[in-house]
Amino acid sequence: MCGIVAYLGREDAYPVLIKGLKRLEYRGYDSAGVALLNDGEISLHKCKGKVSDLESHVGVPNVAGSVGIGHTRWATHGPPNDVNAHPHLSGKGDLAIIHNGIIENYNTLKEELINRGHHFESETDTEVLAHLIEEVRSNTDTSLFEAVRISLNEVVGAYAIVVMDKNNPDQLIAAKKSSPLVIGIGEDGTYYVGSDATPIVEYTKNVVYMEDEEVALLDRTKGLKIVTIQNREKTPYIQELELHLEALEKGGYDYFMLKEIYEQPRSIRDCFRGRISLQKGMVRLSGIEVHEEKWINAKRIIIVGCGTSWHAGLVGEYLFEDLARIPVEVEYASEFRYRNPVINSDDIVIAISQSGETADTLAAIQLAKSKGAHIFGVCNVVGSTISRETDSGCYTHAGPEIGVASTKAFTAQVTVLTLMALAVAQKRNAISAERLHRLIVEISSLPDKVQTALESNKMVEHISGIYKDARNALYLGRGYTFPVALEGALKLKEISYIHAEGYPAAEMKHGPIALIDEEMPVFVIATHGQSYEKVVSNIQEVKARKGKIIAIVTAGEQHVLTLADHIIEIPKTDDALVPIVSVIPLQLLSYHIALMRGCNVDQPRNLAKSVTVE
Ligand code: M6R
Repeated sequence: MCGIVAYLGREDAYPVLIKGLKRLEYRGYDSAGVALLNDGEISLHKCKGKVSDLESHVGVPNVAGSVGIGHTRWATHGPPNDVNAHPHLSGKGDLAIIHNGIIENYNTLKEELINRGHHFESETDTEVLAHLIEEVRSNTDTSLFEAVRISLNEVVGAYAIVVMDKNNPDQLIAAKKSSPLVIGIGEDGTYYVGSDATPIVEYTKNVVYMEDEEVALLDRTKGLKIVTIQNREKTPYIQELELHLEALEKGGYDYFMLKEIYEQPRSIRDCFRGRISLQKGMVRLSGIEVHEEKWINAKRIIIVGCGTSWHAGLVGEYLFEDLARIPVEVEYASEFRYRNPVINSDDIVIAISQSGETADTLAAIQLAKSKGAHIFGVCNVVGSTISRETDSGCYTHAGPEIGVASTKAFTAQVTVLTLMALAVAQKRNAISAERLHRLIVEISSLPDKVQTALESNKMVEHISGIYKDARNALYLGRGYTFPVALEGALKLKEISYIHAEGYPAAEMKHGPIALIDEEMPVFVIATHGQSYEKVVSNIQEVKARKGKIIAIVTAGEQHVLTLADHIIEIPKTDDALVPIVSVIPLQLLSYHIALMRGCNVDQPRNLAKSVTVE
């Protein structure tokens, strides 16, 4: 993980770096640091903690310099402390470097460097890289650009780096492999670099997404030059950024998470806009149409993802099997990549990722690709690595998600998967025109239904107050709502640090029922639909053991009302779409409980938004 930002221009670099780091803080917040170049001296400021801690540490911003690099860290090698914070300096102190990724052979490199007389301050893999580059430069008497290129040939692992040279205020060197890096091209030889485009968007819309094993020279007068680490020259491909500054602000909300929860009526609408036609009774996705034959003839779909994206994948399993009649397997990307999975050329692999940068998902894609499967990406971040690595795909159009806990990304992913299942079902003649039409009508009413579900907020806040001190919680769902139970439990764990488990409701009697006593809140999704009666029986089982029942029910529900301690009503919709509406109160619940427990809702401990390491 980690976020990196750099600036080479004519203004003061410090404000650009700090603002950029705040935007990238979702990538890690264990420590933060900047290095600025002024009058041939590098001034280094770094400390444990968040970017705001760095600002206090720097004090009055007396840090001049129109060239600088900055870093916000999610610790991998070495604990989060001041010394391990980036930037790191080379042995002689001529170079400063920031890095996102993991240098896997850093131990070997470090030992070799120590044997040649190098001394290291930190425990990080990054410092090793700074020393290596400096040594290569002095041994080969070459430019820094060339020294970085040569050094990277010795590196095994993942990196996005920017290197600054004390003796050259007109250049920065950037390089990447497996970790993302974007270059922004400003006016008059001004350059910006970021782990994503968020630190860049307010200065320029012209960006270059670097490819793996590329090294870039950013030079005030000579411009931008890119070569591969094998020294093949590349022509930079400049793209126009599709990102708006307002989307990166809190817009009046106290937390990004709350803003993103409330954005869902809009983000779901943006997701299906232009893809469904009520008049024609059709769903159209260009990502599917370009490879129509593959979908028509697919023997199996494998869905890979992590965390919330994996939960969305589980809903996808129900959707594709129910609507398009294609067998589906859903895999944790981290497990899939290290198995020896049987993959055939008539399999389709769907990779789901909000960030489009998750290392495990990326590795799973590469494995499936090498076995000849067709890879389809469902990503939110436009231009992200996964969206570029896949054969075709479909963006979720949820807009930037900054809160570490995924909310609007989940509902957009499930919306896309629903559209995909319907588009494929049409092509395979697996769905009746009547059911298709009914579902299209339901999809178009989702924004209103999600809006109504959001109106449960006051009731959810009240319930949160009652259960905020719980030590454990159970979440139960069945059929389409089983993945929602998993997602509800994940949301509670990750931001309020309450231990929570999601289960298929009927599985409870095979073990978890032993946990139930009068202290245990059990959140049950008991909406009208196929499994309703069965779930009601499961509620009875919980009640018989004195568990506290909080049920998400369809508006107007009478029976569960008499059994549950609390009910939260949501509007009625088709079984296939219940996940999108029923997850809303669970998102709000985890938000309120986390807030009441004094937790940092947007930046939970130990986590980062984009997990670009194994
Ligand atoms: O960016 P991705 O969707 O690939 O991220 C996958 C997980 O890291 C992510 O969903 C994580 O579980 C969230 N924090 C959940 O809220």
